[in-house]
Amino acid sequence: MARIRIAVTGTDGQVARSLVERSAMTACDVICIGRPMLDLSRPTTIESALASIAADVVVSAAAYTDVNKAETEGALADLVNGRAPGLLAAHAYARGIPLIQLSTDYVFDGSKSTPYTEDDPIAPINAYGRSKAAGERAVAAAHPHHVILRTSWIYSPFNRNFVRTMLALARKQDEVRVVADQIGNPTAAADIADGILEVARNLIEGRNEERAGIFHMAAAGTTSWAEFASAIFSASAERGGPTARVAPIASAEYQTPARRPANSRLDCARLSRVHGVSLLHWHSSLGPCVGRILEQGT
Ligand SMILES: NC(=O)c1ccc[n+]([C@@H]2O[C@H](COP(=O)([O-])OP(=O)(O)OC[C@H]3O[C@@H](n4cnc5c(N)ncnc54)[C@H](OP(=O)(O)O)[C@@H]3O)[C@@H](O)[C@H]2O)c1
Repeated sequence: MARIRIAVTGTDGQVARSLVERSAMTACDVICIGRPMLDLSRPTTIESALASIAADVVVSAAAYTDVNKAETEGALADLVNGRAPGLLAAHAYARGIPLIQLSTDYVFDGSKSTPYTEDDPIAPINAYGRSKAAGERAVAAAHPHHVILRTSWIYSPFNRNFVRTMLALARKQDEVRVVADQIGNPTAAADIADGILEVARNLIEGRNEERAGIFHMAAAGTTSWAEFASAIFSASAERGGPTARVAPIASAEYQTPARRPANSRLDCARLSRVHGVSLLHWHSSLGPCVGRILEQGT
């Protein structure tokens, strides 16, 4: 089978870097397109960036991801997350290229008592979630064979994420206060990358009408941020790394500019049924990631 060329937006993003790493042993070549060649806040760069790469599949992973800052930079978040993915999707469709758009659990308000399915109504409660919801609508309108993958609580050895933050705090203090009343699926970027590679292969095989739509792609198993922090410190202690006590607190005690959904759990059954993809349990992917972060040092 011929090698598959996958173009992913963003260069230093957690998912983009993980796709590059995880594709190394596969029949896929992953090419990152990022700033300045592709700047999602400058729509005129989108068509030329896509034209410069003979991609078989496009993965739209780049995003304005600072959830708190989006509250005061709403126009930029809307442009990068809401409008640009639609333009990228339109250019991909014009070239006959399947597109995979990354989206988020933050399109939901978190009021449901069970995991969210793709059929649940979206109702974002912060500016980032509203911008990503606009991106979903724009992609769906521009590309009939779009695949939208909603994922959650991404962690990796790269960039900014909860695991790296907790380990950095444990190097400086004995105790960390962590929110215990928000629950979700912490998901390793490496596992998302493996899942994306499988979905991309399915899209190359065809039958894309059946394989299009919105899918939830998150790790198996759910937990709270506080329990996740405890698991991070256990994994760190096992490897001789820093550890700290976790003091569970309520969201009300940890005020942030953006509200977060209390329930971020995603039901991923549709992805398994249609694409044959199920991600590992969050706990089994955590140890190796913590080990890599510890190897990086401070
Ligand atoms: N992080 C999470 O917990 C989470 C949860 C659910 C869903 N998601 C979604 O999953 C996807 C991947 O997230 P991630 O954690 O891998 O993101 P990330 O690590 O925060 O990286 C974001 C990427 O977007 C790029 N970017 C930002 N503004 C850009 C612009 N104007 N033009 C071009 N590129 C731009 C950044 O570029 P540089 O390389 O130049 O910095 C970076 O590569 C995103 O769509 C995100 O919304 C994330």
